Amino acid sequence: MKTDEMKLPSYFATFAFLFLCFLSVNVADLDSDKQALLRFSARVPHGRKLNWSSATPVCTSWVGINCTKDQSRVMALHLPGVGLHGPIPANTLGKLDALMILSLRLNSLSGNLPTDVLSLPSLRYIYLQHNNFSGRIPPSLPPHLNFLDLSFNSLSGTIPATVQNLTNLTGLELQNNSLTGQIPNFNLPRLKLLNLSYNNLNGSIPSSLHNFPVSSFVGNHICGPPLNQCLTINPSSPSPSPTHLPPSAKPGNSHKKLSTGTIIAISVGGSALVLLLFLFLVLWCLTRKNFQGSFTSKANGGRTEKPKEDFGSGVQEAEKNKLVFFEGCSYNFDLEDLLRASAEVLGKGSYGTTYKAILEEGTTMVVKRLKEVVAGKREFELQMENVGRLGHHPNLVPLRAYYYSKDEKLLVYDYIPAGSFSSLLHGSRESGRPLPDWDTRLKICLGAAKGITHLHASGGGKFVHGNIKPSNVLLTQDLHGCISDFGLTSLMSSPTVPSRAVGYRAPEAIETRKFTQKSDVYSFGVLLLEMLTGKAAVVQTSGHEDVVDLPRWVQSVVREEWTAEVFDIELMKYNDIEEELVQMLQIAMACVARLPDVRPSMEEVTRTIEEIRSSDSENRPSSDQEVA
Ligand SMILES: *[C@@H]1O[C@H](CO)[C@@H](O)[C@H](O)[C@H]1NC(C)=O
Ligand SMILES: *[C@@H]1O[C@H](CO)[C@@H](O)[C@H](O)[C@H]1NC(C)=O
Ligand SMILES: *[C@@H]1O[C@H](CO)[C@@H](O)[C@H](O)[C@H]1NC(C)=O
Ligand SMILES: *[C@@H]1O[C@H](CO)[C@@H](O)[C@H](O)[C@H]1NC(C)=O
Ligand SMILES: *[C@@H]1O[C@H](CO)[C@@H](O)[C@H](O)[C@H]1NC(C)=O
Ligand SMILES: *[C@@H]1O[C@H](CO)[C@@H](O)[C@H](O)[C@H]1NC(C)=O
Ligand SMILES: *[C@@H]1O[C@H](CO)[C@@H](O)[C@H](O)[C@H]1NC(C)=O
Ligand SMILES: *[C@@H]1O[C@H](CO)[C@@H](O)[C@H](O)[C@H]1NC(C)=O
Repeated sequence: MKTDEMKLPSYFATFAFLFLCFLSVNVADLDSDKQALLRFSARVPHGRKLNWSSATPVCTSWVGINCTKDQSRVMALHLPGVGLHGPIPANTLGKLDALMILSLRLNSLSGNLPTDVLSLPSLRYIYLQHNNFSGRIPPSLPPHLNFLDLSFNSLSGTIPATVQNLTNLTGLELQNNSLTGQIPNFNLPRLKLLNLSYNNLNGSIPSSLHNFPVSSFVGNHICGPPLNQCLTINPSSPSPSPTHLPPSAKPGNSHKKLSTGTIIAISVGGSALVLLLFLFLVLWCLTRKNFQGSFTSKANGGRTEKPKEDFGSGVQEAEKNKLVFFEGCSYNFDLEDLLRASAEVLGKGSYGTTYKAILEEGTTMVVKRLKEVVAGKREFELQMENVGRLGHHPNLVPLRAYYYSKDEKLLVYDYIPAGSFSSLLHGSRESGRPLPDWDTRLKICLGAAKGITHLHASGGGKFVHGNIKPSNVLLTQDLHGCISDFGLTSLMSSPTVPSRAVGYRAPEAIETRKFTQKSDVYSFGVLLLEMLTGKAAVVQTSGHEDVVDLPRWVQSVVREEWTAEVFDIELMKYNDIEEELVQMLQIAMACVARLPDVRPSMEEVTRTIEEIRSSDSENRPSSDQEVA
């Protein structure tokens, strides 16, 4: 009797116990993350207040915290410049075993690097630069590490050889520490950013690192390429302390060895950077002001002391909303990250200046700063939505995000590393890069044609590019042509044609200032002529002073007779391509017909090039050339 009575409650208790266990497995992880973070904030003094409280949810209301998608674990910790100081105690951040991104840069953290944190296997990005950590770099680093920035600390000891095992590393920044010993021979295929400058390293640079620039190594006692000369101690005066360099070896002196070209490049880059920073600062202040207006009106007197200094006072929130990402875009950065990125000018086009921005995650994006946009906000947004939808084609450069405010319009694109068709065709002559061979040229033009055909088929068959030229055909690593800059013409003030673009504009488009699909075909025809002749779109004829456009020049040469004179000398090296050259020339000439109606459609052009290319690959072994 008694046992039966006991049974039911005990089943129930067991069930309840299991249920609770099940619950606590899920809860405990986030809860243990929370406890670890609370211990961290309690034990590490910090200048600004962190609004972390055990009563509020970690994932949604703690500043600097980002959780996994299902909100079950803390995934990212960003606390840059909040005045953290002293060492990171054990059993605090080291317990966040789902952490992927750790950013505590620009604080005053000191002591040894926390080994428990730096060996968390989940970590992908570590940003601890600009602190005062000392001691050695621990050899056990997270195996999947993507980016390690420990620059501007007081680290000593050697660079651990285990770096070799971090096969996914894209960035290693160790500059301005006191590291000693030799640079280990690590060969990491993904490594893009390396900086070991201003340490006390000695020996030579391992051959696997010869491709990095001199500025990755300056300020050490190292020899061998890419350094022109040893930065080494004078052997006749053996110095006990490696930090005492004779004047000739001081890093400052190595600057004298820089060529004038480099110096110009550096100063141009520098001033561009300053300009960009200034611009972003202005932008930042503007958005910040807007936000603070609403903030201070709500807050009462006591809180307004120095609202600007409040970390994450919501400004990021406000700015983040303004950078509009397109659907299906997996980028994990916001406007603030973009503003912080190091930037370099890629080019100045008719629509504005283009910058290459390297985000702290190591992601590289292209930011285009539009000038002379006449479209209003609504019109701009609608057009951007169109453009965003269009981007899903292998021969179009997708737009990833945009920003619109009264004073600033920014577009964010993927970075396409191999440059443009224009620089491949013309730039290479100066740089000594090999000129593209015939197969490569055909492949690029076919890709471009496909991209334009896709554009023309969109928007109910009404879409017009309006600015087709070789510098708007970007090249992927394996030299496929991708069309960029589409969808912008209609937003810009009516084209006061910059001289460089004029060669590509159809006569009727210059007259009426209206672009059509047929005027795109004309521009593409000029592009083909440029590819065939190797000449610029506006030609300076040898005898006369006057400048003619490429179509007229080609027509005048061709009218005489079909001479080889019209083709790029480079192409004359190849046998058995005369027929293809002539066929392409015929397509090009059809595209640049004076009367728009006579020109073929882009679809027809694409089909014809495809036919040439398929006969081409049947007849000759493909020789796609690798251009570095
Ligand atoms: C803490 O600050 C963040 C960012 O400013 C804000 O989103 C969050 O709501 C704040 N949490 C609390 C509990 O005030
Ligand atoms: C935080 O996570 C959300 C969603 O995963 C993401 O949209 C946002 O960009 C992240 N913020 C940071 C600073 O990583
Ligand atoms: C950095 O730490 C060292 C001791 O490790 C100390 O002597 C130095 O003053 C610190 N520097 C700063 C800027 O705090
Ligand atoms: C490197 O990253 C790729 C994906 O980007 C992943 O599949 C691979 O497992 C990673 N390897 C290591 C050693 O982390
Ligand atoms: C790299 O990893 C392998 C095995 O995973 C290990 O045997 C080797 O010692 C590691 N190399 C370094 C330099 O740690
Ligand atoms: C980095 O170190 C070099 C050499 O000591 C020094 O000239 C430079 O100012 C340092 N940079 C910073 C930001 O401390
Ligand atoms: C490099 O410096 C270390 C001390 O930091 C010294 O023991 C070693 O002999 C030096 N090596 C070379 C090649 O100068
Ligand atoms: C490396 O860091 C030094 C010092 O901050 C800097 O001058 C140099 O330009 C950097 N080099 C590279 C390749 O980032």
